[in-house]
Amino acid sequence: MLIDTYGRVATDLRVSLTDRCNLRCTYCMPEEGLQWLAKPDLLTDDEIVRLVDVAVTSLGIREVRFTGGEPLLRPGLAGIVERVAALDPRPRTSLTTNGIGLRRTAAALKAAGLDRVNVSLDTLRPDVFKTLTRRDRHRDVLDGLLAARDAGLTPVKVNAVLMPGLNADEAPDLLAWAIEHDYELRFIEQMPLDAQHGWKREGMVTAVDILASLRTRFALAPEPSEERGSAPAERWIVGGGPHRVGVIASVTRPFCAACDRTRLTADGQIRTCLFATEETDLRAALRSGAPDEEIARVWRQAMWGKKAGSGLDDPSFLQPDRPMSAIGG
Ligand code: 5AD
Ligand code: SF4
Repeated sequence: MLIDTYGRVATDLRVSLTDRCNLRCTYCMPEEGLQWLAKPDLLTDDEIVRLVDVAVTSLGIREVRFTGGEPLLRPGLAGIVERVAALDPRPRTSLTTNGIGLRRTAAALKAAGLDRVNVSLDTLRPDVFKTLTRRDRHRDVLDGLLAARDAGLTPVKVNAVLMPGLNADEAPDLLAWAIEHDYELRFIEQMPLDAQHGWKREGMVTAVDILASLRTRFALAPEPSEERGSAPAERWIVGGGPHRVGVIASVTRPFCAACDRTRLTADGQIRTCLFATEETDLRAALRSGAPDEEIARVWRQAMWGKKAGSGLDDPSFLQPDRPMSAIGG
């Protein structure tokens, strides 16, 4: 098991497959992109599968989520999914993607054993999409979403970040659209994880703002708490149901006490938290020829050092060196 000093157990592994991306979302990356990880530093497909194997067979991981950057940019993605889905016990598998390229790949990923996708989409307006992501790819994302649903990568979840002055007024429109298409919508509060360090607490769109905005058009009833578990999203039943909407209030209502995550970066570092300032180098252990038991031991030790919370509310909070795109969502 992966357990920390507060008794939390990690069963959900996020694996970043690349730090590169084909969008430049303003809350994530600067226009010119970032200094990407060098190829020799990236874990190979074999190395990733080996580490996930250890996590699943020795450490109690039951859910594996592939992220990036943009994981569809990783050439070996389908092969990695296939090998991870073939592990025993089989973990649940999912993918967090910006949706570009899903139209071409959704069916193959489903066939490889992918269970679900989370697609990031912040706006229904192509012009706002272009401003927010600095790329004119709105149509590709919408097509990718349809393909994912048709391929059975369901429930298809949509992640939306609302930015003041850009798409902050779109919450009800996004929800109406998500219900119409049978996507499960979740709003994520903007977090201080952008490479440019441009996040400001003042003016950010909070969970309270989002709910007030949704309630101008929808009746929302809180989902019974026993259904929430360790899921970060607080969920509401829309109208009389069956549709739900989630809000991930990482900043204003952190859920650290129920966190069940551990993270592996594309260059083989374990992070116990998005906001961790320390990492544990699993790649070094791996490349020095460590056996599975040794890798499991290093991972357990990293988990044991997991901090109680994100530290966001602490006046001495320091944004981690790694931006979101190099950690994985
Ligand atoms: N704050 C909140 N969410 C973010 N994402 C990327 N950067 C941030 C940020 N600074 C979202 C993406 C994607 C998920 C992986 O995280 O939009 O949906
Ligand atoms: Fe790419 Fe995701 Fe960052 Fe947007 S938020 S630039 S889609 S990694």
